[in-house]
Amino acid sequence: MSEEIVVIEGDGIGQEVVPAAVSVLDAVADFQFVEAEAGDAVQAETGEALPQATYDTVADADATLFGAAGETAADVILPLREAVGSFVNIRPARAYPGVDAVRPETDLVFLRENTEGVYSGHEDRLSEDLSTLTRVVTTSASEQLAEFACEYVADRGESGFHVAHKANVMRETDGRFRDAVVDVAEREGVEAEEVLMDAFATRVCLNPGQFDVVVCPNLAGDVLSDLAAGLVGGLGLLPSANVGPDNALFEPVHGTAPDIAGEGAANPSAAILSAAMLLEHLGYDDEAADVRTAVESVLESGPRTPDLGGNAGTEDVTTAVLDRLD
Ligand code: NAI
Ligand code: MG
Repeated sequence: MSEEIVVIEGDGIGQEVVPAAVSVLDAVADFQFVEAEAGDAVQAETGEALPQATYDTVADADATLFGAAGETAADVILPLREAVGSFVNIRPARAYPGVDAVRPETDLVFLRENTEGVYSGHEDRLSEDLSTLTRVVTTSASEQLAEFACEYVADRGESGFHVAHKANVMRETDGRFRDAVVDVAEREGVEAEEVLMDAFATRVCLNPGQFDVVVCPNLAGDVLSDLAAGLVGGLGLLPSANVGPDNALFEPVHGTAPDIAGEGAANPSAAILSAAMLLEHLGYDDEAADVRTAVESVLESGPRTPDLGGNAGTEDVTTAVLDRLD
């Protein structure tokens, strides 16, 4: 029986780039697509940004493709990551031939802790003047991420990864994260080279070639992967996968892009490359490779959306990708 893929377009350009990615999936595999709703529009209609039915469908599916949610992003994506039990957000950031990039040699993968840190939802307003945030770090989640990272680099034939942290200041929380990751790496015979996350930001801009796989706490992974997007030509190029033990959710790194939403001008590459990650996750390795090759070929010599200096639309780029898959 064909796998069930939940499709959540969400808001803004999610409604433009997700259909593009679905058409590519449909061209290369025989999936059963199930549409579900989440985001600002559903919130306005029903009072709930993430209906329980959507949560349940995602939790039961083989995989989910998600676009983006606007103001309600935190109310949607954080619980959806929980619905798939995701402990790692995989965010590859690479430059493509033909695309004007600040650092054309960039080829990185961020492995971001996906449930804890400052995104675990413990914020309080204590007075008119004072708000606080509780940062959560567990050894178990840090170890789970590190075990994944060890397998990930072994699969890529590499000897180690970098671990970005700020344990010199956040001694308890990032100290725990760092210690757990380094201990697992040592046990697995994988090199874990430490880098302070602020220093990483400078070093990756000056010389991204010195990094390959970078393991990060939650917020650091979010910020540093957007920074890497700036090195390779923008957010329209970065896919991501939220992976759990039995389930996963795939989404472009970008948001709803309100400044261009509705114009049909969004770059669908990030969403289509997220679909390629979905294919690979489900074992469709050849199809995933075909999709990546098609996207790369279009980026090199096909129509371009305005973010990459062209004047083509989302549909022109999608059609060009589909043509190359024929
Ligand atoms: P954004 O990623 O939506 O846009 C940042 C800039 O990148 C904009 O200039 C936009 O036009 C451009 N951009 C992004 N994706 C593009 C694409 N595919 N093609 C061409 N240009 C693209 O981030 P921003 O503006 O900070 O957030 C907008 C909204 O999206 C907010 O409401 C935020 O909460 C939400 N958001 C949702 C996320 C999610 O659902 N996972 C993630 C990030 C933001
Ligand atoms: Mg982000």
